[in-house]
Amino acid sequence: MKNIVVLVSGGGTNLQALIDAEKSGEIVNGKITCVVSSNDKAYALERARRNGIGTRVIKRKDFQCQRDYDNALVTLLQEEKADLIVLAGFMTILGDGVIKAFENRIINIHPSLIPSFCGEGFYGLRVHEKALERGIKLTGATAHFVNEICDGGPIIMQKAVAVENGDTPEILQIRVMEQAEWKILPQSVSLFCQDKLRVENGKVIIL
Ligand code: GAR
Repeated sequence: MKNIVVLVSGGGTNLQALIDAEKSGEIVNGKITCVVSSNDKAYALERARRNGIGTRVIKRKDFQCQRDYDNALVTLLQEEKADLIVLAGFMTILGDGVIKAFENRIINIHPSLIPSFCGEGFYGLRVHEKALERGIKLTGATAHFVNEICDGGPIIMQKAVAVENGDTPEILQIRVMEQAEWKILPQSVSLFCQDKLRVENGKVIIL
């Protein structure tokens, strides 16, 4: 059984999707053992507590430099015996120290079809604002492994979602979550926990 540590910063609806998937047996061979937040007020922490999952808080601003933060986070993740780390709306950039320590063991969910609307500055609602500004007709979500390039790691799964007339960023965000994020994130996590994801030449092969 693999230990899944979920990193959050906000509302935690993707965390909830993972908790629900674990309860219904959709996550095979994996268990959420800890939720780590960058923000002690995150509602995601409440979701964890209600489900009997241990919580920890670590804030970037409590460390003088990226290296100190990275070292502290790696220590925390090792203490929690993390096999898989999931970034579920985690808004702090991870430094190379963390990424190297957990190579191809960190999964992020991003609310667009990468490589569109991703990279630095593209997070949360802003992604949907930019997508609507551009007038795209199809958007979606991407689950990917994290490497040193922001939103540039190997893609595990993607799911497309239609943009509809009259969409606001908020309406589109919810549709992308419901139709894509909350589905492909638990599926990707389950595949990882069953050792069904192999990374070759920067690409993911689902076995
Ligand atoms: C989600 O839409 C997630 O894809 C996005 O933030 C939201 C968090 O919601 N993540 C990013 O933009 C990362 N670049 P949640 O806290 O309800 O899961």
